[in-house]
Amino acid sequence: ADYDLIIINGLVASAEDVIEADIAIKGDKIANVTARGGLKDATATKTIDAEGAYITPGGVDAHVHLQEPPLFGKGSSADTFETGSRSAICGGTTTIIVFAPQQKSEDTLLATLEATHGKADKVCYSDYSFHLLVANPSENALAEFSALRKAGISSLKIYMTYAALKLDDGQILDVLLAARENGITTMIHAENNDLILWMTAQLEKRKMFQPKYHATSHPAMAEIEATYRAICLSEFIDAPILLVHISSPAAAKHIKEAQDRGLPIHAETCPQYLFLTKDDLDKPGFEGAKCVCSPPPRESEVDHEGIWQGLENGTFTVLSSDHCPFLYDDNQTGKKSCIDDEYPDGHFKYIPNGCPGVETRLPLAMSAGRLKMTKFVEVTSTNAAKLYGLYPRKGAFVPGESDADLVIWYPDGKLEPFALKNEMLHHNVDYTPYEGKTLKQWPRFTILRGKVMWDRDNGGLVGKAGDGAFLHRGQSSLKGPLSTEPWDIRGF
Ligand code: URP
Ligand code: ZN
Ligand code: ZN
Ligand code: ZN
Repeated sequence: ADYDLIIINGLVASAEDVIEADIAIKGDKIANVTARGGLKDATATKTIDAEGAYITPGGVDAHVHLQEPPLFGKGSSADTFETGSRSAICGGTTTIIVFAPQQKSEDTLLATLEATHGKADKVCYSDYSFHLLVANPSENALAEFSALRKAGISSLKIYMTYAALKLDDGQILDVLLAARENGITTMIHAENNDLILWMTAQLEKRKMFQPKYHATSHPAMAEIEATYRAICLSEFIDAPILLVHISSPAAAKHIKEAQDRGLPIHAETCPQYLFLTKDDLDKPGFEGAKCVCSPPPRESEVDHEGIWQGLENGTFTVLSSDHCPFLYDDNQTGKKSCIDDEYPDGHFKYIPNGCPGVETRLPLAMSAGRLKMTKFVEVTSTNAAKLYGLYPRKGAFVPGESDADLVIWYPDGKLEPFALKNEMLHHNVDYTPYEGKTLKQWPRFTILRGKVMWDRDNGGLVGKAGDGAFLHRGQSSLKGPLSTEPWDIRGF
């Protein structure tokens, strides 16, 4: 046969346009994209009729936590690389970038990278890479940045909050400078740690311990101040950054203003900031703990609207999940691990932070029908591939260059709107924050490098653990440092 797989009658959406087209796949690459009917004389081992449905590049989820040690308290990840990547595939995501967490007590990043390779090797359903999470930017760790690049790692994450991970501003400058020198993009979790601690103490004085006070203790102002500070530090070093999981439209304004000045400031938001509010933390009993994440879901629809606008106007480069999986109903490792003799109803400050969402990211965004298709593709796939050095291998349909990673959605009228239930999902978590939400779309097929991994109506998950491979990444192809000269103290 000429090809291994042909997909006919698709509405093929990229970040540039949507065209009526047929796609031919040979081996693990896109071989040809033609106008509809253009492949009618070609032969193929297998043909799929998309029946007029959208076809998008496989999702690239650049913010996933799996198998991390507890951040504080007892919470530990409910998903392994196997179950987390399985969940990704079933929701249309073919690439995940997962954090490889250095501990503050460790002096090396290369050992962290090795250990994380050990967790992921041969068990993933999706393709994967790692962001190094830098908790201790020691001389030795900074000197390892060039070796990280050679090992295919072109991004790091650092934290401005959490006692176990927080860097002070001087350490942030150290990281930004070394990252700049090595063509690395630095992701920053921007919240003002002292403001959070101060608000937490205020709440404790008043014996306010319920899950909803997690939101009170992490006000938008903590995010706004730290976001602006991170922008200043980035501008000072002329180093590109990505502000992760932005929840506040006022923080987004600082980002937009910096972008309009031409600075290499990139930003990320997540579905929890489009679909949840702080009211989701105020549920009967302890239920609200399910939606405890940092930053917290904000006040109201007005905030959601601001975040949607930020996606539409380009402030947000990417829409990632921040999948951070904890069981709910588990007193040892889950959300309920903060319940003990001292706090029989739990204490918000000990609730493991994070929500699952690697599988629901694309269906939620697609079902909302709010973004133009080209924008949907850009923020859920193409821009992440560009920013993290995977483009055009990922996030595009470039014949001969792009991996044959794609999602075939349902054609109009073929899928009845349905209420999401956690039992439909493939993660290892006992809840979804979106239980009962009406969805209008779901991936009908997920294809990874030419192989059908998910066929919703015929077998569901048909791919295997180990089908996913490690991705060696290059430098970002989005905006980088403004100057090509080394940073020089004599410039000041
Ligand atoms: O609450 C969250 N986001 N948990 C995951 C850790 C992080 O800061 O991304
Ligand atoms: Zn974070
Ligand atoms: Zn809303
Ligand atoms: Zn995160």
